[in-house]
Amino acid sequence: MSALTVALGERSYPIHIEPGILGRAGTLLAPHTRGRVLVIADETVAMCHGAVLAASLSAAGIDHRMATFPAGEPSKTLATAERMWAACAEAGIDRGGLVVGFGGGVSGDLAGFVAACWMRGVRFAQIPTTLLAMVDSSVGGKTAVNAPFGKNLVGAFHQPGVVVIDPTLVATMAPREYRAGLAEVVKYGVIKDPAFLAWQEANAGALVAGEPDAVAHAVRESCRIKAWYVAEDETEQGVRAHLNYGHTFGHAIERDTRYERWLHGEAVGIGMGMAADLSARLGLLADPDLPRRQGALLDALALPRRAGRADPERLTGHCRLDKKAAAGRCRFVLPRRAGEVETVVVEDLAAVAASFAAGMDP
Ligand code: GLY
Repeated sequence: MSALTVALGERSYPIHIEPGILGRAGTLLAPHTRGRVLVIADETVAMCHGAVLAASLSAAGIDHRMATFPAGEPSKTLATAERMWAACAEAGIDRGGLVVGFGGGVSGDLAGFVAACWMRGVRFAQIPTTLLAMVDSSVGGKTAVNAPFGKNLVGAFHQPGVVVIDPTLVATMAPREYRAGLAEVVKYGVIKDPAFLAWQEANAGALVAGEPDAVAHAVRESCRIKAWYVAEDETEQGVRAHLNYGHTFGHAIERDTRYERWLHGEAVGIGMGMAADLSARLGLLADPDLPRRQGALLDALALPRRAGRADPERLTGHCRLDKKAAAGRCRFVLPRRAGEVETVVVEDLAAVAASFAAGMDP
């Protein structure tokens, strides 16, 4: 199957998507290193999939080591990055070496940040193992760790040289985590591609069941759309912000529940419903049927659509602190019709609060 390309001139890179490709990863990574390879993975991914990757690296004649950390968001810190830099030193990663992020969003963001800083930047590859990482975080070069004052606030743009995606790996995901990743897939259809949205509506049963052909198609189409945004606007000065559809509402919901109640994708799915509601309230919605279609698809994918109970005014306050807020003003990505969204600075905070309320339990 032909690779997709993220078109960034001399820094362009391929995204290889193919069932079973993990067993050939070594061959695909070999051209990206003139020295040693350090694979950074959480302990669970290392246990589930590490042997297959290690065997393929050895078969390709690559001198490699694996550094692990405890699975989960609390590991995405400067302290873990420091441990990984020590592992780079021990593994002998020099300017010709390669760091590989192997796992979900935490591994990818952390490994990318480690690679961006080590020796002022070494080459980097992404091998995502979760749906969310396959369709979003492994492509586009956003790397970061969390800081006490906010998530993802310390980071760098550092593009991978290659992304290797084996969609069959989602079969080992917890069902709830897998479904949460589907919210980002829905996002791509709504913001950019009506045909992809219609395909998801027709194949929701296959998607929620994790049927391999459906998963592979969804991953490929999502990566194709993501690659377009990254090539258009690498550092998010404009149109790349459309990828944040549902995220301003979603981040507020996550923050309000101290990141404990909702998985990120679940919060994004709920946030997309609130964004569609806000678009209607502000008179921006050109297709009044879009909120119903989007909601029905999220239902078919067994994703939650309501955020429980919380104070809408407090949630609105969280939006003003969102790192995407412009000088304390709330900025939202709002849909007009399937495949068309726009970024809007919203002054009418009462409308924002009403959209939060519309997406919560009474
Ligand atoms: N996750 C949004 C982006 O990569 O821009």
